[in-house]
Amino acid sequence: MTKNEETPMRNITQDNVTEAVKQSFDKIDDPRLKFLIERLVSYVHGYARETQLTHAEWQAALAFLLRSGEISSPSRSEFTLLSDVLGLSSLVDLLASRPAATEGSVLGPFHTRGSPWVESGASLIKNNAGQPVLLRGKVTDTQGQPITGATVDFWQNADNGLYWQIDDTQPQDNLRCQMKVLPDGRFELLTVHPTPYMVPVDGPVGGLLQVAHRDAWRPAHFHIIVEAPGYRTLVTELFDKADPYVNQDAVFGVRESLVLDFKPESDPAVQAKYQLSGPYQVVEFPVVLAAEAK
Ligand code: BEZ
Ligand code: FE
Repeated sequence: MTKNEETPMRNITQDNVTEAVKQSFDKIDDPRLKFLIERLVSYVHGYARETQLTHAEWQAALAFLLRSGEISSPSRSEFTLLSDVLGLSSLVDLLASRPAATEGSVLGPFHTRGSPWVESGASLIKNNAGQPVLLRGKVTDTQGQPITGATVDFWQNADNGLYWQIDDTQPQDNLRCQMKVLPDGRFELLTVHPTPYMVPVDGPVGGLLQVAHRDAWRPAHFHIIVEAPGYRTLVTELFDKADPYVNQDAVFGVRESLVLDFKPESDPAVQAKYQLSGPYQVVEFPVVLAAEAK
């Protein structure tokens, strides 16, 4: 028997194809990458077997991916949206969550590095319409000790539901900022109430939601990233318990611990500090960071 005849490559069958494909990746040097690819091959082959995937279905899936690539651009990733509506983004967040630390939630497509730096106590309202909201937070470790070196990166959508990157009517960097927490770990920010909005439905992922009779709405939310040396970075969102969509997020980002009470308040001292002429809401967000694994 020649060497070729001994190898399964000479006669690929339903029974040996998965093993043959796995072996073809055996020489990947990075053990983690090798493991990920090996499991990927197992699961996609298992999926095809279990569903008895037909040519027509497989081609439809490839066409879906092709259309997803075609509609994507530097400012729009249909693949990220696909991962979001499949709950995969959320699952990865949940797997990264650590006990006793604040829960993570989806990053979404509208975060870009380099937001303007402001001091704690700044107002982002400028010319934005919407109910003023005072966000107050305190960053601590899992023992309750303030983390003085923490930074907060914040972004949200405007009253019309849009983020500044996709809305020519908004000034650059509208409703986003970064700040350092105060020495006691606290931070404060005046902004406007975020707005529920629909994820983009003009691409293939929109088609998927439509065939499933699924809603494209996301409840209103603030996005926040909290970072500090020696701690796991927290990427999360905050939701208003009064939001009409808080029970049906299209991207599965809501966690009970992140659904907060936006309390109406009208403290004259706060009104004077921020030059507010009427009531505003206050939301308190305690942020607990887990220590980085040594
Ligand atoms: C967002 O939070 O802005 C978002 C998240 C997932 C998909 C689309 C938008
Ligand atoms: Fe968002």
